[in-house]
Amino acid sequence: MSLTVPEGYHPLHARSVPAYLASQSQLEGRLGGGEADWRVQEVSDGNVNQVFLVHGPAGSVCVKQSLPYVRLVGESWPLTLERIHFEHQALLEHGRHARGRVPQVLHHDARQYVLVLECLTPHIILRKGMTAGVRYPRFAEQMADYLARTLFFSSDLALSAEEKRRKVAAFSTNTAMCRIMEDMVFTEPYQVHPRNRWTSPQLDALAADVRGDMPLKLAASRLKYQYLTRTEALIHGDLHTGSIMVTPEDTRVIDQEFAFYGPMAFDVGALLANLLINYFSQEGHTTEAAPREPYQDWVLETMETLWSRFQARFLALWEEHGRGDAYPTALFTTEAERRGLTEERQRWLQRLLGESLSFAGVKMLRRIFGLAHNLDLDSIEDPHRRAACERACVELARSLLLDTGRFHTLTDVTAAARALGERAPRRRV
Ligand SMILES: Nc1ncnc2c1ncn2[C@@H]1O[C@H](COP(=O)(O)OP(=O)(O)OP(=O)(O)O)[C@@H](O)[C@H]1O
Ligand SMILES: [Mg+2]
Repeated sequence: MSLTVPEGYHPLHARSVPAYLASQSQLEGRLGGGEADWRVQEVSDGNVNQVFLVHGPAGSVCVKQSLPYVRLVGESWPLTLERIHFEHQALLEHGRHARGRVPQVLHHDARQYVLVLECLTPHIILRKGMTAGVRYPRFAEQMADYLARTLFFSSDLALSAEEKRRKVAAFSTNTAMCRIMEDMVFTEPYQVHPRNRWTSPQLDALAADVRGDMPLKLAASRLKYQYLTRTEALIHGDLHTGSIMVTPEDTRVIDQEFAFYGPMAFDVGALLANLLINYFSQEGHTTEAAPREPYQDWVLETMETLWSRFQARFLALWEEHGRGDAYPTALFTTEAERRGLTEERQRWLQRLLGESLSFAGVKMLRRIFGLAHNLDLDSIEDPHRRAACERACVELARSLLLDTGRFHTLTDVTAAARALGERAPRRRV
């Protein structure tokens, strides 16, 4: 199939990247030396776009370009080039709210659909580090701050109605990327679909079970409705552990191409889901010589800290900067009214936790029965062992979606995960 692209657009190649960068004089200083001194490294761990890291004598940059199709699949899966512009806009906005938590934008080329970003080094993808059992002591606190700041400051709690609506409009045309989530998260795992895959034959019966589970399909559809209709905040839109780069000291969020105005709980839930998947996957990586139980404890503690810090941070921001059109301060002036407002904020956060746990449920299921899987589980070579970990994930995901009354605090969730995790070894084949 031939794809139409705007006139003048040219996909970059490893060999054409140095000349491209040399034409952007502001980048030369950052790399040092000249075109001939720059080494280009193609990064192959993303699926959608092309990404090159370019190293010069003085420093490095990251070059990301949209292709008119999904890179991993090829031209049979066309995708609009505009995704890089939404990534650019979200990077700028989230960078303003959560300073230092996203890579700096060095250059945006609207004609070539290219972003040149600060090269994060020695950062690695969080999912890779967590699959290897590496701890990140600052991660929970830094992510809690990132989430609270990006979600709060882009919402009606902080903005005037006019400003908020302008922002909603600016992101409302990221339709191609939203369509991917609408299909792959909320729909395909619950039907027979050529894109679906799972550990087969071990999980064949479970996959059929999910497809025939009416309450589960209703719960997923209820969440899809929220995703489609709730313009709550400028969310990252794909906040899994593969969209976060880390060192033990520093946490950065990358890959904002799915950003749009959507439910806050979609971001919080994505992160919790991916931490839970990592927790359950550890059973598949544990060995006599290097048991992973202590690491599992760390993952669950991290989830608890993440939520409690997020909640505290969000409430503090609301108290200090709650000048948006929602909850007009003019209505709450007496001491009793202010107390009532404080209680309302706590209920509000409780509602957000409940919704986040539901979104976590669909996010876990799509990683087991849909197209895109996680390295955490996929790197478990023995399919019996992998299937045992995946079954535990599915069981918790189902509870998160269906037994919502069971989970009032994050500790309820970590306790349920721990109970399922402790049963998992007995299932090992
Ligand atoms: N600023 C950066 N500095 C260093 N490496 C980066 C940077 N941004 C991305 N990378 C590397 O490039 C990879 C792909 O980046 P990214 O996730 O943005 O691309 P993508 O094609 O949109 O991937 P995905 O399939 O996850 O959507 C990352 O996994 C990471 O290894
Ligand atoms: Mg991406």
